[in-house]
Amino acid sequence: MHNIAIISSSIRPDRKSHSLALYFKKYLNENFLANAHILVLKEYDFPIFSQTFKKQKNPIKKVMDFAEKIAASDGVIIVTPEYNGGYPASLKNAVDLLYEEWRHKPVGIVTVSSGPFAGSQVLVSFQFSLWKMKAWTITEQFAVPDVEKNYDEEGNSLHKKISEPLTEAFIKELFWCIKADKNLV
Ligand SMILES: Cc1cc2nc3c(=O)[nH]c(=O)nc-3n(C[C@H](O)[C@H](O)[C@H](O)COP(=O)(O)O)c2cc1C
Repeated sequence: MHNIAIISSSIRPDRKSHSLALYFKKYLNENFLANAHILVLKEYDFPIFSQTFKKQKNPIKKVMDFAEKIAASDGVIIVTPEYNGGYPASLKNAVDLLYEEWRHKPVGIVTVSSGPFAGSQVLVSFQFSLWKMKAWTITEQFAVPDVEKNYDEEGNSLHKKISEPLTEAFIKELFWCIKADKNLV
């Protein structure tokens, strides 16, 4: 079974996008599709980025833990809210800690907004940052508008008829990339 790391990137006290990390964890684990675990940036509470972890003399334990979990994953799902048209500083702060670990890593991006536009303006800029590190961002996107109307705090979809086909398509594409990646190396 695939090992999937899900990054929950909002560190706001009353964050809403975390429910999407919970949703994907549940979906993958409860349907026995993958071993999914969440990397919670709010809990990691990394210091402001100064250097990639491999260039640090004594990287702190939680940075090593994050790096190991990304390296060990077959694929990554990144849940990001949109802040002023961009992705949060907490996410950039964590993504830049790594470099080789991202190379050829299949990555699915979930964008989240409390409004009607589903965080869609974040996708291109974030994808570009990942490409710079040679991550494989999948071509399927999962964009969530009105997050509180569509998912509860426990990570349950409130509109399964809409969310399920989108989830299936997103995961199918992620798994296809993981399979292709494994066949190539
Ligand atoms: C600093 C800030 C900027 C925001 N900018 C946008 C934006 O550009 N577009 C948008 O759709 N929502 C924007 N929002 C609303 C977020 O979509 C909403 O707060 C969402 O819940 C954020 O995810 P989070 O709760 O997990 O942090 C912004 C929120 C914050 C805190």
